[in-house]
Amino acid sequence: MKNRYRIVIVGGGSTWTPGLLKSLCLKKEELPLSELILFDNDPERLAPIGGFAEILFREENEDVKVIVTTDKDIAYRNVDFVFCQIRTGGFKMRELDEKIPLKHGAVGQETCGAGGFAYGLRSITDMIEIVNDVRSRSRDAWILNYTNPAAIVAVALKHQFPNDDRILNICDQPINLLKSYAKLIGKNHDELDPVYFGLNHFGWFIHLYDRNKKDLMPEIKQKILNNGFEPADKAERDPSWIDTYAMVKDMLEKYPDYLPNTYLQYYLFPEYKARHLNKDYTRANEVMDGREKRVFSECRHVIKVQTAKSSSIAKNEAHSDMIVDLALAIINNTNESFIVIVPNDGIISNINSDAMVEVNALVGSNGPKPTCIGEISSFYKGLIEQQYAYEKLTVEAYFENSYAKALQALTLNRTIVDGFKAKTILDELIICNNGYWPKLK
Ligand code: NAD
Ligand code: G6P
Ligand code: MN
Repeated sequence: MKNRYRIVIVGGGSTWTPGLLKSLCLKKEELPLSELILFDNDPERLAPIGGFAEILFREENEDVKVIVTTDKDIAYRNVDFVFCQIRTGGFKMRELDEKIPLKHGAVGQETCGAGGFAYGLRSITDMIEIVNDVRSRSRDAWILNYTNPAAIVAVALKHQFPNDDRILNICDQPINLLKSYAKLIGKNHDELDPVYFGLNHFGWFIHLYDRNKKDLMPEIKQKILNNGFEPADKAERDPSWIDTYAMVKDMLEKYPDYLPNTYLQYYLFPEYKARHLNKDYTRANEVMDGREKRVFSECRHVIKVQTAKSSSIAKNEAHSDMIVDLALAIINNTNESFIVIVPNDGIISNINSDAMVEVNALVGSNGPKPTCIGEISSFYKGLIEQQYAYEKLTVEAYFENSYAKALQALTLNRTIVDGFKAKTILDELIICNNGYWPKLK
């Protein structure tokens, strides 16, 4: 165990970086840093967030050297952890990912359906480059990756780096949901011990145990059925997220076995969602007008007044705490339980062993040790196998430059289904993603 650690945040200009910095300051005793590096390939995004970081750390974590850089050699040399959160193509491309499918009557979403497919084909190239750049400079660093679509990124990185066991793909939505369930019954999220299974943005909670091993799932379900469902951090959420959480009740009414991840609504109610999502003002517009503006203007303000003391920077504690807590579990070999994305290898015994599944794992110095789920029943098996076939074909389309596989992937996706629709959307996405995607032949 070292005394002090070096962490690089890749995508240092991300809207989530200030929250992450705050979390690193709050946990400075548990996770002492020698250097914190913010790396981004866009100097204009990096400058305000980097300026904020320097001031925040000067005030709250002064022993740490903060380095703000666009130089890979400075960023990746001898680091212990890489916290990765990039967005290839930025919000402008996200807007197209969402608007193109919607124009053709299909769900338009950042990570699900055709939008997630388009974003996936963009993310893979950059993520492979990042892993190679890190590995040539920091052989043993842990790469903790939030970059979306995490499902596609996880399958692609497993394909490209099959023996690299220090890449861990993660998502904060299970913990966001856990916080919201806990709030419903007046508890703290760390009082709930969940059992979760599925693919990323495509999973279910089976149990929510309390400290006495009593399953609180029936009580929580009943609360949702009676009173609806809201995010725990409702006050900081935009309207579209409130709507998204509310639909958990609709899913539960129709499919009462388990508590679904919010993202399942795009697959279970694809026609309804495609009709009701705003075609002209999507989540990308909401983020550009909301979170992005708030974060960057707050950082510029902090730089102007040279103090972050009264700053209430936009943050999602579940998001920033999860990645910092994972690093701590690895450093201290705590074997604490997290819900993370890992190779299936029999965890869910009756689906493909090479799927990248999202399940509980005990995380220690050797990484995640997933807990067994066993057999799942026909409805869940059918849904997951279809979705995994979509993920696999998307990644194969990327590596083989295959138009045929891309079309198969989109046709298999439950948000599209129809082959004519799949082709129309694919052909338009190809034109808009010119320069970002491999050439599909
Ligand atoms: P953002 O656009 O504000 O931030 C991304 C940053 O990455 C930008 O500053 C951009 O310049 C930079 N970037 C792009 N390509 C890069 C590259 N190749 N190398 C270095 N930097 C690069 O987006 P955001 O909304 O803050 O989200 C960041 C990422 O985190 C997205 O992929 C988002 O989907 C993801 N995310 C995932 C989860 C999860 O549950 N897995 C949760 C939150 C956010
Ligand atoms: C959830 C998901 C993430 C997603 C994030 C932000 O936490 O798990 O994968 O990136 O929401 O989404 P937004 O639409 O606010 O950018
Ligand atoms: Mn996620």
